Amino acid sequence: MRGLSPEDEMPAIPPPSGPCIEADCPYYRGPFSTTPQPDPMSTLKNVAIVGATGAVGAEMIRCLEERAFPVATLTLLASARSAGKKLKFKGEDITIQELTPDSFAGIDIALFSAGGGISRDFAPHAVKAGAVVVDNSSYFRQDPDTPLVVPEINAADVKSHKGIIANPNCTTAISLMALYPLHQAFGVTRIWASSYQAVSGTGAQAIEELANQSREWASQNREWDAAKLDSKPHVYPHQIAFNAIPHVDSFLDSGYTKEEMKMENEGRKIMHHDKFRASVTCVRIPVFRSHSIAISAEFEKPVTVEAAREVLSKAPGLDMLDDPANKVYPLALDIAGRDNCAVGRLRMDCALDNGLSFWVVGDQLLKGAALNAVQIAECLL
Ligand SMILES: NC(=O)c1ccc[n+]([C@@H]2O[C@H](COP(=O)([O-])OP(=O)(O)OC[C@H]3O[C@@H](n4cnc5c(N)ncnc54)[C@H](OP(=O)(O)O)[C@@H]3O)[C@@H](O)[C@H]2O)c1
Repeated sequence: MRGLSPEDEMPAIPPPSGPCIEADCPYYRGPFSTTPQPDPMSTLKNVAIVGATGAVGAEMIRCLEERAFPVATLTLLASARSAGKKLKFKGEDITIQELTPDSFAGIDIALFSAGGGISRDFAPHAVKAGAVVVDNSSYFRQDPDTPLVVPEINAADVKSHKGIIANPNCTTAISLMALYPLHQAFGVTRIWASSYQAVSGTGAQAIEELANQSREWASQNREWDAAKLDSKPHVYPHQIAFNAIPHVDSFLDSGYTKEEMKMENEGRKIMHHDKFRASVTCVRIPVFRSHSIAISAEFEKPVTVEAAREVLSKAPGLDMLDDPANKVYPLALDIAGRDNCAVGRLRMDCALDNGLSFWVVGDQLLKGAALNAVQIAECLL
């Protein structure tokens, strides 16, 4: 059985402390804006994607094209299994090459999305060849020399890179899109959260597993009480179709999973908030795309629903969908394929003295991975 997450964790180290720095990269138009304003002719880059055939890699190709990233050449890298196959970029076929230590000659920016082991083994070769690496795995996220960046929050941290910039965990990035603006206004102390995570968060094979199990059930016209299928799970430890699995990534001695602790560890580093605490339960559900997170947050300064709504309605990269009386709230199906995350179900938390509960949804292949990586790359132009 494949692991639940292909990532290898670095040991947790204390995050950097200090105030959040205002962004000043050429693509950053204010504390929350990441709208690119490229001068394509002056900034053309040779770009490589490592893991181009994967669920995230495919979105990286699309984001580069849709955001008109100034690409001089695009090199697509994957395993030997994919070498020789072709993928399209701007209508042109590009032949996939096998990743080797020599793949990075002449590359300016390398977007890595092939798991922690590949990042560990090959990112140093890319840096040595002169490329800046934007790494989507968890391998470098807690390395003190590696900035961990959500451009809407800490774009200025990009400047401190020493060759590698890390892209955050998808559930964390999506949650912070709503939590960070609230933190700026009210000062978050701690959160309790539960995630409802889509199978595409585990990659292309997991998408197939849910599709195959759903097909098997439909083809046999099973009743609801006979939903246990004959086909054995390969990616997940249990059948994912018609199920909810409270097991994302591997378990730690504390009883939490690695995925669950990323919210606190990565949240601290990204928000420059070393006292931030997060108790999270991550659950895999049979949704193809978009992670949803239910969050209860406690704040230092008094919070109200109205004030929170005011703050969140101005947050870039975030849409407010909050009209429950008319059945309006963020839905995974609606948010899939969209760049913006969405927040709704705002209410005063009835179990906290000064807390707010809300529901955030984001396409984890986009803001949780490919889009955020390309936004980081835009900060390098
Ligand atoms: N999926 C998400 O929502 C998400 C979100 C945030 C972060 N991430 C991270 O992004 C990375 C990729 O995730 P994914 O979901 O795209 O996985 P995936 O669909 O399983 O794709 C894996 C990619 O890695 C390549 N690869 C595997 N072994 C390789 C090797 N030995 N040499 C070169 N390339 C190799 C695969 O190439 P072949 O096709 O040739 O095997 C494929 O392109 C992981 O680190 C994951 O944790 C994923």
